Amino acid sequence: MSVRGSLRLESLGGYAFAEVDRIVEDLRRQGASVLDFGVGDPKAPTPEIARERAKRALDEHATTGYPSYIGSQGFRAACADWIGRRFGVKVDPAKHVSATIGSKEAVFHLPLAFVDPGDVVISPNPGYPPYTRGTMFAGGRNWTYPLRASQGFLPDLGAIPADVLRETRVLWICSPNSPTGSVAPLDFLRDAAKFCRKHGILLASDEAYSELWFGDEPPHSALETGLENVLSVFSMSKRSNMTGWRVGFVAGDEEAVRLFRKLKTNIDSGTPNALQDGSVAALSDETHVAAMRREYRAKRDLLCGAFRKLGLPDCTPEATIYVWQKGPAGMSSVEFAKRLLDPAVAVVTTPGTWLSSPDGGEDPGEGYVRLALVPTPEECADAARRLAGLRF
Ligand SMILES: Cc1ncc(COP(=O)(O)O)c(C=O)c1O
Repeated sequence: MSVRGSLRLESLGGYAFAEVDRIVEDLRRQGASVLDFGVGDPKAPTPEIARERAKRALDEHATTGYPSYIGSQGFRAACADWIGRRFGVKVDPAKHVSATIGSKEAVFHLPLAFVDPGDVVISPNPGYPPYTRGTMFAGGRNWTYPLRASQGFLPDLGAIPADVLRETRVLWICSPNSPTGSVAPLDFLRDAAKFCRKHGILLASDEAYSELWFGDEPPHSALETGLENVLSVFSMSKRSNMTGWRVGFVAGDEEAVRLFRKLKTNIDSGTPNALQDGSVAALSDETHVAAMRREYRAKRDLLCGAFRKLGLPDCTPEATIYVWQKGPAGMSSVEFAKRLLDPAVAVVTTPGTWLSSPDGGEDPGEGYVRLALVPTPEECADAARRLAGLRF
């Protein structure tokens, strides 16, 4: 008898970004010179300050032992200091912070700490897939809110039905938002936190892109509304080109952090010590982050400028490493993405509908493609030239 997958696993289609990888491989096999804006995985090196510190730390931890489940004292203190400097919020590393193995792990596992079978988790649509998949694997029920340009890509919390709210344990927000590139104003964060406190809901705030912003002021954190009922999720991945290190952290409500830590003792055995030490060094340096922001902004302007010249709507993002580009009127997101895959253009994007699902009849990702600004500035300039040859 052959093995069979669990019903939950078998109910899922492919992971959207695994599909993107497959398309890129196919195009390359056909000999096309591919410009890959599909997966949001930066290709630039991790800053030297972090790599050098981690190299030394490997020797310092020659006898490794399992790392702390919740992160070393030094790592948690560095996270707390950084939160203090960046957001003006005081968090106690002993009570309000836990290390995570990148933020995907935290996002996916979080419902296991707060959700019983049948409880509801609310999350954005389009949204980072582990919001809904983590809920599903925890036996919870998903309820999503659409992100639409007409509402500044913000949720309408008043539209959540009372019967859904009664059963809701977690509300995910994501600002700066992936994939739309929008930033939630502090007033919205205050309203969301107040709403969650009133209804006994955990406000889970995905802030993985908090450092990649292009406006006059850096984005706010949900932590600025107070720690009660708030758990913010941070990542070293995009801030410091450290996707391969798998280091992140959560911070916020003392009881939520206690429960999250308890969950993690049952799942993993901590973030490798040398990588935590390297991350402490990365957190101490803002110069490399400012340089990255300049480069992403230049790449964003090249791409968004090229789409505008084609007569498409201006979708210039305020933050993140993504452009959420609306296609020509009447063209589906898959059709739009396919046009960009024309071998003369060979610009790989993710169709918006792969990151969204129909909501109230209408799919908020329909008509959009997502471009991750990870190719080099030269490749982005090349993409802009290739796009100029398109006619819609
Ligand atoms: C919105 C969002 N949150 C979290 C993550 C997870 O990043 P990591 O696990 O590398 O910290 C990603 C990755 O692309 C993301 O897009």
